[in-house]
Amino acid sequence: MRPDAFDWIDEERVLREKAGLVRALRPRPAVATLTDLAGNDYLGLARHPAVTGAAADAARRWGAGATGSRLVTGSTELHAALETELARFCGAEAALVFSSGYTANLAALTALGGPQALIVSDAANHASLIDGCRLSRARTEVVPHADPASVRTVLAGHRGRALMVTDSVFSVDGDAAPLAELARACREHGAALVVDDAHGFGVVGEGGRGGPADAGLAGAADVVTTVTLSKSLGSQGGAVLGPARVIDHLVNSARTFIFDTALAPAATGAALAALRLLREEPERAARVREAAAFLHRRLTAAGLQVAPPDAAVVSVRAPSPQAAVRWAADCRAAGLAVGCFRPPSVPDGVSRLRLTARGDLTGRQLDDAVEVIVRTAPAA
Ligand SMILES: Cc1ncc(COP(=O)(O)O)c(C=O)c1O
Repeated sequence: MRPDAFDWIDEERVLREKAGLVRALRPRPAVATLTDLAGNDYLGLARHPAVTGAAADAARRWGAGATGSRLVTGSTELHAALETELARFCGAEAALVFSSGYTANLAALTALGGPQALIVSDAANHASLIDGCRLSRARTEVVPHADPASVRTVLAGHRGRALMVTDSVFSVDGDAAPLAELARACREHGAALVVDDAHGFGVVGEGGRGGPADAGLAGAADVVTTVTLSKSLGSQGGAVLGPARVIDHLVNSARTFIFDTALAPAATGAALAALRLLREEPERAARVREAAAFLHRRLTAAGLQVAPPDAAVVSVRAPSPQAAVRWAADCRAAGLAVGCFRPPSVPDGVSRLRLTARGDLTGRQLDDAVEVIVRTAPAA
């Protein structure tokens, strides 16, 4: 009998089941029935009437889709306004919007890397940065997590084009990168610093201006920042921010800008409305940080192992992947949605509950969330 082309998929599934690592999609009702500590809508803006209204207005005015790459079908004033206001808010010279944070990261690394370049990459970087390094065809050196001394050592052994890439706030443990020190290390060796501020933008620093601004790097000539519009702004899409000559270079060479349909008008309009809300109501960012600190304090006091959060992500250790899945399911049964991170999404193989603090949760909701997590915790 001839083998079936996809028999290997069944074999992989069996291995995944044995390891407790099977993933499955779950339906999501339009009206939330659970308290949500799993999503990334940090500021609670995804359903804000000004944001959803702007999405609807943009779709009516510009159409449901962007109709093509901006280099082919033209660039709307909506995209230009979002870029101008994003750059101004973060203190960057210029910005360029992409269809996702993932494609923004691929753009920055492929356009600034290349076969002749060295990329120094933090060991805990997000998957999209890892893929960007691979696609760039640059020599990539992975350095230990949050370790500027190792960055210096690797850069010292290289001549020519180089850059260091790091998350600003790491997605798994919620800790912040030592951005000011990394920037110093890069500067000493004429290298650029690329910062993925997906979890910092809208949360970290004065009014949520993000990790690089908080580290005194806003407008720096050798720093490039990427952000997603899908977390704190509650929309969809991504952007690269940095010196005007870098942004112009991306327009001319970033394949995920040139060969990808532009960000949809509705997402662009929603992101712009959310950004304006954040600018007018800077206390939103502070409330997220307070909620994260509260969760950390209370869960630690209850004896759980919780990493100190530097932004919205609060990570609670679980004894095994199976225990993490059960714990998350028990929370869900008790009315609380939490994230569950298992290998291969965790660099150190340790499974966790991943909580995302939201600035729009009430004190009562946070109290109840802590009670559920503690009551359903597996025995250590
Ligand atoms: C650190 C980080 N970078 C990039 C991304 C990708 O952003 P997007 O979901 O907009 O593609 C994500 C999130 O999903 C992320 O957590």
